[in-house]
Amino acid sequence: MNGTLAARTDGISRVITELTDESNKKKKPVVVILVVSISIVSGMLIFGVVIWCLIWKKKTRERGLHLNFDLVTIAAATNNFSYARKIGEGGFGPVYKGVLETGQEIAVKRLSKSSGQGIEEFKNEVILIAKLQHRNLVRLLGCCIQGEERMLIYEYMPNKSLDYFIFGQTRSTLLPWHKRFDIIMGIARGLLYLHQDSRLRIIHRDLKTSNILLDKEMNPKISDFGIARIFGGDQSEARTKRVVGTYGYMSPEYAIDGKFSVKSDVFSFGTLVLEIINGKKNRGFNHADHDHNLLGHAWLLWKEGKALELVDAVMEDSYVVSQVMKCIQVGLLCVQKYPEDRPIMSSVVVMLSNESVTMPQPKQPGFFTERGSTDTDLLSRNEKGRTESPVTITVLEDESLAGIYSSLSELHSGLARLESRVRGSISLDVSGK
Ligand SMILES: Nc1ncnc2c1ncn2[C@@H]1O[C@H](COP(=O)(O)OP(=O)(O)O)[C@@H](O)[C@H]1O
Ligand SMILES: [Mg+2]
Repeated sequence: MNGTLAARTDGISRVITELTDESNKKKKPVVVILVVSISIVSGMLIFGVVIWCLIWKKKTRERGLHLNFDLVTIAAATNNFSYARKIGEGGFGPVYKGVLETGQEIAVKRLSKSSGQGIEEFKNEVILIAKLQHRNLVRLLGCCIQGEERMLIYEYMPNKSLDYFIFGQTRSTLLPWHKRFDIIMGIARGLLYLHQDSRLRIIHRDLKTSNILLDKEMNPKISDFGIARIFGGDQSEARTKRVVGTYGYMSPEYAIDGKFSVKSDVFSFGTLVLEIINGKKNRGFNHADHDHNLLGHAWLLWKEGKALELVDAVMEDSYVVSQVMKCIQVGLLCVQKYPEDRPIMSSVVVMLSNESVTMPQPKQPGFFTERGSTDTDLLSRNEKGRTESPVTITVLEDESLAGIYSSLSELHSGLARLESRVRGSISLDVSGK
């Protein structure tokens, strides 16, 4: 009996041992697979991190090298800032063409007056702006600092700026409608990137035809974006004492009150669009029948259902009616008097790129009063004799100056009302012309 029991127990333990052995045998490959895969994954992770560190280090080194150009390099590239290399001069100072030792062409902007901000602050702003990249923005390559003097180094654009083409009588024939439409779309996309898509949310504040540069294929590239920040003129509040901008493109709230927002850029964009279609400058626009600027002229034609008359005669054979009408409507929506009525750039891009989108009817544009009776005149009075070289910076030393502008503008409106009452019997000329 005892022997049988012992034999049975023996058998059971053998079976258990066999079973355990078998499960151990099954477990082993699982463990091996687990260990191997963990090692592979961690190996790959470490490898990835090492590679990423190396690339990052290389990029930073390259960036560091390019961002800070030394004066010797820039002087050599521009032939000692020779007169022959000067390609223009704006409100911020002269611009020179240069060629680096590598053969790369550059444009050097010599800032005429130090902004008063420290070197580190200046460099930081340059680094931030230099990081912005979009096919419709001119690349800022870096800066050069020497004592009080600061320079900005840009990529060189061989085809000059848009004003050179659209306002030049013979050159304007080189820009048929389809090219102008592409240019309008490109500017819209570049501005949308600055306003919404880039990490910095830049308000340009000086959008105008001479800040639209053209590359080899005549693609538009916005330049001078972020210059307000670089120049130390940017403020977090939407109101500034330093008005950076160019008359003819500035929205009423910015020109008079120093209030800037994406909507003041939208106003400048609308002006640009109407100028591209018409081939004349908003500022200094003349018409036999009235004394309005280009925006006013466009608005009058739109109300009379004669908007197509706005099209530059050189595009007579090339323009597409539906596209031109769309652009005129978008332009007029952008230059509406009140910022809240103007569209944001994402809506502008949607409106321009879709055939079937319904658009609101534009309301009256800003500065819609004949010259001689408004703040437009006030602005031009300040600018007497400078129509051909538009001012780019105006420093309102005191906020009260903006107040004086408003009061004077009210006074002028009063005079205008008086003028219209006595028109016919007495000729009252408040334009000073
Ligand atoms: N990156 C550039 N490449 C080629 N030309 C440029 C570049 N930047 C500026 N320019 C030229 O220099 C001129 C002066 O430029 P700027 O100082 O920005 O003044 P503004 O924009 O008021 O004309 C421009 O009209 C343009 O023709
Ligand atoms: Mg410029």
